[in-house]
Amino acid sequence: MSTSTPSTGATGTTGETTITGQAGPATTTSPTSTAELEDRLRREPGSFRVLTGDRPTGALHLGHYFGTLRNRVRLQDLGVDTYILVADYQVLTDRDIADHLAEHVEDLVLDYLACGIDPERSTVFAHSAVPALNQLMLPFLSLVSFSELGRNPTVKDEIAHSRQSAVSGLMFTYPVHQACDILFCKANVVPVGQDQLPHLEVSRTVARRFNSRYGQVFPEPDALLSAAPLLLGTDGTKMSKSRGNAISLSATADETARLIKGAKTDATRQITYDPEHRPEVSSLVLLAALCQDRDPHEVAREIGDGGGAALKRTVTEAVNEHLAPLRARREEFAADRSYVRKVLRTGNERANAVAEATLDEVRAAMDMRY
Ligand code: TRP
Repeated sequence: MSTSTPSTGATGTTGETTITGQAGPATTTSPTSTAELEDRLRREPGSFRVLTGDRPTGALHLGHYFGTLRNRVRLQDLGVDTYILVADYQVLTDRDIADHLAEHVEDLVLDYLACGIDPERSTVFAHSAVPALNQLMLPFLSLVSFSELGRNPTVKDEIAHSRQSAVSGLMFTYPVHQACDILFCKANVVPVGQDQLPHLEVSRTVARRFNSRYGQVFPEPDALLSAAPLLLGTDGTKMSKSRGNAISLSATADETARLIKGAKTDATRQITYDPEHRPEVSSLVLLAALCQDRDPHEVAREIGDGGGAALKRTVTEAVNEHLAPLRARREEFAADRSYVRKVLRTGNERANAVAEATLDEVRAAMDMRY
């Protein structure tokens, strides 16, 4: 497939740039850097809309919290219009059945509320409840080539690790669905980790091609890269729901203590912060430092030659203390499931109104208003 019509660029001013006819991710407008975005977000929060989301596959953990959840709350509190997606359809990319789905969805919303997401200011909604969002999938699929879909490195990686024997059409095309998530509400900022960058590039490509074929409708969203360093799980590999090595936000203080007690360390008594040479010990030091908002080197120095046991005591206390108010809030919300469902219902309603307005524009642009 080729895109040979002139692009209008993200700002809608014509004639700035031209797509050369390649199907590849020819970028016509370069993405705004995260540093510049941060600056503008602080100065003019009202001119941004943020969209981000999670797959409801299980409890969110400390990696999510320090990697993205805290940042979402910060953006919301800055006054940025924030949309948070419960990506229920996306669960079905690497598995046949989304088990305990309703339970996981409620847990996810509870985690959001516990972290400080305020449903008055942020819109929390689910894929499956917003038909007009999903309908964007058809025009959007027509804008990407089969080979582009096959080149997405994150999808390739997920296929390699998938528990399914065959690759489903949804696995192959979900980055385009993710473009629907982002573009339906015309989000211009997407806070993501490095692994999501290829998906964001798909969204930018889809927006650009739609605009150049049918007229300016969509902004080209920018990635807001997370500055948070990677936290390792208790086994020393990446903290992940599916690896059973994560400390979830909803864990009790005792469970947290037990998990940290079992965490991998090394044989050197002197505790140092040296992520390259001592990844497991350093990740624990970092976790304590993040919880206490301190410099990890200082935390390590303080523990000194106390060894793994002292380190784990420090980390356990730091985590439990930091999460105590959050966990207390979570318990309160959990006691009233009808409130949790109401948060979603309200968010779904808002998302539907926005999605229908966008779909209307898309129909008009595509000459489909009969
Ligand atoms: N792909 C994301 C994940 O696996 C979830 C997600 C779905 C998302 N749609 C999104 C993230 C849109 C950002 C923007 O965690």
